[in-house]
Amino acid sequence: MKRDFLTMEQVDVADITQLLKRAEFMESSISGQDKSLDILKGKSIVTLFYENSTRTRCSFELAGKYLGAQCVGITTSGSSVKKGESLIDTAITLDSMKADAIVIRHSVAGAPALIAKHVKASVINGGDGMHAHPTQALLDMYTMQKTFGTLKGLEVAIIGDVKHSRVAQSNIVGLSKMGAKVKIFAPATLRPHGIENQPCAVCRNAEEAFRGSDVIMGLRIQLERQQKGLFPSAEEYNRFYGITAERMAMCNKGAIVMHPGPANRGIEIDCDVLDSPMCLKDYQVTSGVATRMALLEWATAGR
Ligand code: CP
Repeated sequence: MKRDFLTMEQVDVADITQLLKRAEFMESSISGQDKSLDILKGKSIVTLFYENSTRTRCSFELAGKYLGAQCVGITTSGSSVKKGESLIDTAITLDSMKADAIVIRHSVAGAPALIAKHVKASVINGGDGMHAHPTQALLDMYTMQKTFGTLKGLEVAIIGDVKHSRVAQSNIVGLSKMGAKVKIFAPATLRPHGIENQPCAVCRNAEEAFRGSDVIMGLRIQLERQQKGLFPSAEEYNRFYGITAERMAMCNKGAIVMHPGPANRGIEIDCDVLDSPMCLKDYQVTSGVATRMALLEWATAGR
């Protein structure tokens, strides 16, 4: 049976709860000397990345290997995509090699959903355009649940380039589904159209974003979009929207900082915050392996 994981909209509270619970077992298993399990022995996982990635791609490949699966990773630069092979033909080729799961990252929104219609393998969205990054949301929720014991009632402020962020989109949907209160804080030029219809509040100033928050989630400022003039300068952005120690002092006691990475030091987040114990960016990476192990098991169950 095929079980795709394409968006946070697609999964319900029971699915998310089950995945987060199973990830706890996976985390304990990779924390020991011997990380190997044989839960996916005989299964094959392919990662197909049309965009750059360090965390998502490597964590999926390690997750599969820790579970005993055969894992192969291909990127467009080293594949027949360079010779002009289409997305669907590439996916069907991998499917014909009997892949059980294909993890895909693509710059075009909807690409994973498109290939899911053409292959027998379970398809996992590793990030598509500005649309969704559901496995990042899953690992972020896992990190918060492990820190606070529950997601219900947590106040989470997502700060930065929300407009171009698939991480923000998936977290808004997933966190609100799990009972967290989500707010966003971004310059007007970096707020998505229709944000008022999303399950989140829109903050008008830094105080509204930081005061009373349990989690501050920074987003990468996509400097490659800066030529469009969406904000005056990196320095000015930092002055109004930067995550600083001074602003963190407005948060609830025990508040944490999260960042999906890669971070622009000194722009969306100050170095002293990024490198402080309240910042869980490195634990997020560990959470990424544990949650992706749980997800690979979920996606290939019954195949
Ligand atoms: N957070 C994230 O998706 O990182 P990578 O681009 O390194 O995979």
